[in-house]
Amino acid sequence: MSELPHVFVTRRLPGPALDSLFGVCDVEVWPGDVPPGPQILRQRAASADGLLCLLTDPVDGELMDACPRLRVISNLAVGYDNIDLPAAAVRGIAVGHTPGVLTEATADLTFALLLAAARRLPEGMAAVRNGGWGPWSPEWLLGLELNGAVLGIVGMGRIGKAVAARANAFGMEIVYTDENGGSPLSEVLEVADIVSLHCPLTDETQRLINGQTLAQMKRGAILVNTARGGLVEQDAVAEALVNGQLGAAALDVTDPEPLRADDPLLNAPNLIVVPHLGSATRHTREQMAWLAVENIRAGLLGQLLPNPVVVAGGPTAPTRRESGYA
Ligand code: DGY
Repeated sequence: MSELPHVFVTRRLPGPALDSLFGVCDVEVWPGDVPPGPQILRQRAASADGLLCLLTDPVDGELMDACPRLRVISNLAVGYDNIDLPAAAVRGIAVGHTPGVLTEATADLTFALLLAAARRLPEGMAAVRNGGWGPWSPEWLLGLELNGAVLGIVGMGRIGKAVAARANAFGMEIVYTDENGGSPLSEVLEVADIVSLHCPLTDETQRLINGQTLAQMKRGAILVNTARGGLVEQDAVAEALVNGQLGAAALDVTDPEPLRADDPLLNAPNLIVVPHLGSATRHTREQMAWLAVENIRAGLLGQLLPNPVVVAGGPTAPTRRESGYA
């Protein structure tokens, strides 16, 4: 049995970051193409000093109790709603995440969705393939012009700001909600032509977009979500798309993920769904892997993590709560 600390990694990661741990710790990487699942995770992580996990791995107190040596949990994501932070704090387990490196990639994807929805690209692409493309017509597939349109950003953290920078370049007006200022959500919803979600998923933001808040939006407005599926009540979004309260919705995230191909949501009109691609560039994912590995390395040495999730009373001596998307 090796004397080195044991680290269980719940998925293969892109790039060389993990290699840097070989020789420093005893690294076991789950070889599957799908997450290990709770039981296997519990077995494999049982002797781990460090756990490098993904947003697809629920990490709760029960799992932590099954891993008595665990000192550090490093989530390969900026969001950490899959981890029970208070449970980690009371057990003295440090928790890290990967903020910053995925900001630009996620803002790019947000804008790709926003443009695709505003300019009705899926309908146009379908028409080309299904014989629906007739002679050029002055009234066909008219979309929303971004220049002069109002973008409502819900959560003005790092990604919200990067989306705002892109929106500025497109000549959009910006209204936003923010913990430290900004406008109330109801005002943002009332005036925005496009609402884009960039807040973390917490007990407070769970189903933030629901029948009531959708009704506060401008009729025909567009909803974009690249944050977390749980922010949105999907049945209400489907209904709003059918009755025209929403002009379009573009979602990178859903609840659950993956969304089944026969999920009724997918029958709604003017809906774009892509499979959680916000950070999916090679560069970004490799950077995320480096941050996740650095958190593991520091945690095993008993040092403050370079990118800690800060939680009141936790082992990383927090002074304020960090937004997962800030
Ligand atoms: C995150 O990091 O939280 C994203 O959802 C995946 O990159």
